[in-house]
Amino acid sequence: MAMGARRKFVAGNWKMHGMAGSLSELQPIAAAADASKSVDVALCLPSTLIARAADAAPTLPIGAQDCHQAEHGAHTGCVSAAMLAEVGARLTIVGHSERRQDQQESNADIKAKAEAAHAAGLSVILCCGETEAQRDAGQAIARVTAQIAESMPDDASADWLTIAYEPIWAIGTGRVPQTSDVAEMHGAIRMKLRDLIGEEADAMRILYGGSMNGGNAAELLAVSDVDGGLVGGASLSADKFVPIIEAAAGAS
Ligand code: PGA
Repeated sequence: MAMGARRKFVAGNWKMHGMAGSLSELQPIAAAADASKSVDVALCLPSTLIARAADAAPTLPIGAQDCHQAEHGAHTGCVSAAMLAEVGARLTIVGHSERRQDQQESNADIKAKAEAAHAAGLSVILCCGETEAQRDAGQAIARVTAQIAESMPDDASADWLTIAYEPIWAIGTGRVPQTSDVAEMHGAIRMKLRDLIGEEADAMRILYGGSMNGGNAAELLAVSDVDGGLVGGASLSADKFVPIIEAAAGAS
């Protein structure tokens, strides 16, 4: 696939935010997504909202933020990929840095989760990213490409797998890397993907995440090898998320 053929993809990640009343944000987001024909849009919601969101906005792909790697079993409090698919999820995030930190998830766990999600029919956004200390030590590219190598699903292909690069120090902080650093990292991720999956790497989308908003999205989305965004805080309201969808359409 030619590099220019990758469609931009903007995914929201509501994290542990959102009650039933928040679903009123979905209609204007779905309308913007429907209008932006050159952009793929999705919203990854708390599990408790997935079924209602999928009903309320049938054209908008609704996703989860994690799944367990097992199909079922004695795993109190966990949710399997098949359970998420049954209530209407079409995708899931795996390996978000908050889960790597809070739940001590390993690259091996994340690989297993991605494979389980694919087996259940879900698309997957697989996250990677370095800490500030790792960047300051000059280890950012080595750490991120190692995460990708160790968590890449065996059957990875661009039709169901997307990578999200999220520098941990940029998440929720309002701090965004220099565009030259984003370009360097996304280029390094592309090269690592070529090592791992060959030509398929050129079709696989690599999203940027970390304090993306309506004010900086156009600049970030114009960076080479940035194929979209994974958006936390600015995805919680249509007012903030729709301008990012529009910026992606403008960058397409
Ligand atoms: P943020 O979060 O946009 O609020 O920085 C991004 C993410 O963690 O996915």
